[in-house]
Amino acid sequence: MNERRFRALITHPLIGNAVKVAQDNLDCIFMSSCDHTPESLAKALSENECEALICELTDRVNSTVINSSSRLKIIANRAVGYDNIDIKEAKARGIIVTNTPDVLTRTTAELTIGLIFAVARRICEAERWLRAGNFKGFDSSLMLGRDIQGARLGIVGFGRIGQEVAKIANCIGMEVVYYARRRITAPEFSCAQQVSFDELLTTSDIISLHVPLNESTYHLIDSHELGMMKKGAILINTARGPVVNEQALIQALKSGKLAGAGLDVYEHEPLVPKELLAMENVVLLPHIGSASFATRERMALMAVENVIAVASGNPPLNPVLE
Ligand code: NAP
Ligand code: GLV
Repeated sequence: MNERRFRALITHPLIGNAVKVAQDNLDCIFMSSCDHTPESLAKALSENECEALICELTDRVNSTVINSSSRLKIIANRAVGYDNIDIKEAKARGIIVTNTPDVLTRTTAELTIGLIFAVARRICEAERWLRAGNFKGFDSSLMLGRDIQGARLGIVGFGRIGQEVAKIANCIGMEVVYYARRRITAPEFSCAQQVSFDELLTTSDIISLHVPLNESTYHLIDSHELGMMKKGAILINTARGPVVNEQALIQALKSGKLAGAGLDVYEHEPLVPKELLAMENVVLLPHIGSASFATRERMALMAVENVIAVASGNPPLNPVLE
């Protein structure tokens, strides 16, 4: 008689070789739609008696999902952020939660730097203008932007991605300051200066957010903080939408307090406020921070390998420890 294999509910298509690795090692149930509610996830987990859930940051894994199947042992999130999962509930039930740190750090940092250039040099605005048939020849006063070299970049949240952004920014001649709750002493970061949150807000030309979304970071950037920023500053958010009060940001952009913003994430994704859509000085991306093929494949493999480890009776490779 065949031994029953560890069964994993996979909420979204896996990328590259992760599909084969999953199928070779696990009993995989692939969900057909990608638009899941906690109820549809709970139903699929309990009907299929799954031991594992391999999910995406858009899947809301609340107590209904966590308590849906007595067999559930591991929730493997295909993201480094895990604010979509009720960690306390999973812990109380003894269910392991894993994420995908490190493998997406460089890719997300590169996109952040891309957003800085796009906003400061008005790249998307200029391209839209050209495509609209407006380019009639060189004009020395056309689309004047800001230099990156010498600009002061304030990094909020100095973890893996924040540190990587600091390294690249330093290489391209930015003056880097950062805010972190703990004292950073590693010599490799002597190229950047640790400052208080207030000093970062009041002195930076460009501010980039790299904190996770949790109770301490919800609306970390609100009207008060926006009011403290330099007139003409630029805000970049590749962290999570609710770290910024989006309505306050819209007001700060409308009033000219901020010169521009580069956003990969939104407060109520996938909703993007129409006010932002109408602004030329805002670059809007559809949450693609880690979206290179190689990185998304590595993230999928990491999630699958965490499940395989637990299926084999081993500890998970990337447990969320909270
Ligand atoms: P990380 O290594 O855990 O870094 C996060 C840092 O934020 C930590 O150093 C943490 O410091 C700090 N932090 C937490 N709460 C803070 C607070 N209230 N004030 C100041 N600092 C605080 O995580 P990561 O790998 O860099 O990823 C960061 C976040 O980026 C993820 O959680 C995710 O939401 C987002 N992300 C987005 C994309 C995208 O596609 N746009 C891709 C990847 C990641 P402590 O040591 O003090 O806790
Ligand atoms: C993406 O947003 C992630 O947290 O991995």
